Amino acid sequence: MSTSSAAAAARHYAETHQELFLADLKELLRIPSISTLPEHREDVRRAAELVATHLHRAGLEHVEVISTQGHPLVYGEWLHAPNKPTMLLYGHYDVQPVDPRALWDSDPFEPTVKGDELFARGASDDKGQMLALVKALESLHQANGGFPVNVKVLIEGEEEAGGESIEAYVKEHPERLAADVALIYDTGMPAAGIPAITYGLRGILYTELEVRGAKRDLHSGSYGGVAPNPLHALALILSGLKDRDGHIHIPGFYDRVRPVTEQERKNWASYPFDIDAALKQEMGVSVLPGETEYPTEERRTARPTLEVHGIIGGFTGKGAKTVISNVVTAKVSMRLVPDQHPAEIFPLFERAVQSLCPPGNEVTVRNLHGGDAVLLPLESHWMSLATTALKKVFGRDPVFLREGGSIPIGALFDSVLHAPTIFIGFALPDDNAHAPNEKYYLPNYALAIQSAIELLCEVGHA
Ligand code: BES
Ligand code: ZN
Repeated sequence: MSTSSAAAAARHYAETHQELFLADLKELLRIPSISTLPEHREDVRRAAELVATHLHRAGLEHVEVISTQGHPLVYGEWLHAPNKPTMLLYGHYDVQPVDPRALWDSDPFEPTVKGDELFARGASDDKGQMLALVKALESLHQANGGFPVNVKVLIEGEEEAGGESIEAYVKEHPERLAADVALIYDTGMPAAGIPAITYGLRGILYTELEVRGAKRDLHSGSYGGVAPNPLHALALILSGLKDRDGHIHIPGFYDRVRPVTEQERKNWASYPFDIDAALKQEMGVSVLPGETEYPTEERRTARPTLEVHGIIGGFTGKGAKTVISNVVTAKVSMRLVPDQHPAEIFPLFERAVQSLCPPGNEVTVRNLHGGDAVLLPLESHWMSLATTALKKVFGRDPVFLREGGSIPIGALFDSVLHAPTIFIGFALPDDNAHAPNEKYYLPNYALAIQSAIELLCEVGHA
């Protein structure tokens, strides 16, 4: 069968099975597979088992739920296309926590359809996108009895928690995962109807600071004035790390930042809409604070950042309590850009934190996880095949995006497997990823399936 009729048959299968595919997605969304919370460990495993049944149904062989130090990986393969390229497909089945729960309009784990939208934690990040890859495989297999390329599928359950297990697995099994190209569905598109290929993502370094003062909590009347106050020490440290203009004061931090190209600057300047206005509207703010000397898109995607995510410490109950607590912690991450590497940045960060810590306090800095940035050439064989596939489905050329989020596994596929990654994404800017009322624009579920079908056929045909 020619690849174009193989694609047509599979696309027809997908169209006629869309209701079932939606039911499958809802079933997966009902499992609260929150990877970062230990109490959900069993739920994460249940989600892995369910993903494995879908890989079986998609015609993959050697399907395995692989236990790790952390959460399981799910693997499957089909290697019966001699002389054809091998594609490694990746997505994640774990999700972010749901808090603040009170801000959800419906139960985050009871998928709720309203019009064209499906609301649930993980709907677009990433269960809905990951399952689209698997349903594309199922459609190809059911319609044609096989695939146009060799296929390996690796689905992760720890992406939202740093992805340490997959990193170890990739490093230990490079032959098993060997591929010509990887395909990752875990990014976004600028608006409905405008397909997007992501060519850049930031890296990350996620840390935790613990500041300790006295040996116990203290009465602020009896000891205030002579006691260390770890909360105040933490405030001094945090404000010393980044100033009000967004400049990060860690000696050496910016040394290896790779400048953006003229072409990228031109591309950003030529956006057919007002990016500042759009961002202000999305966030509900009236200014975009930070390094205003850089263009907005550069700040959001190609400049490194430092953000505080949470502070635990002190008295936070109702009313007043005059206490000086003796231990406080903060979660702090840095988004990194090419060629900043977490292993090189961590010691610089640690040194800066130590030197900012006021007398009488002690600070410990922990490295929770890290990952490298990704930057792919805009012109490549794979980019043209992806462009062709998306054009067939959307009827227009995709846009090329550089994104500010992180998918550390992309850098690893490149450095360990020497396989470039095609990042295609179907999350919309208002899909509320990581926030209350996360959703998935349902037409994108169907389009994501159709796009993967076309892309596998393009790669098989090329
Ligand atoms: N889907 C996102 C990555 C993403 C975010 C891509 C925004 C494009 C735009 C992914 O699930 C995610 O949130 N990743 C984490 C990675 C981290 C925990 C290592 C992130 O970016 O915070
Ligand atoms: Zn994701």
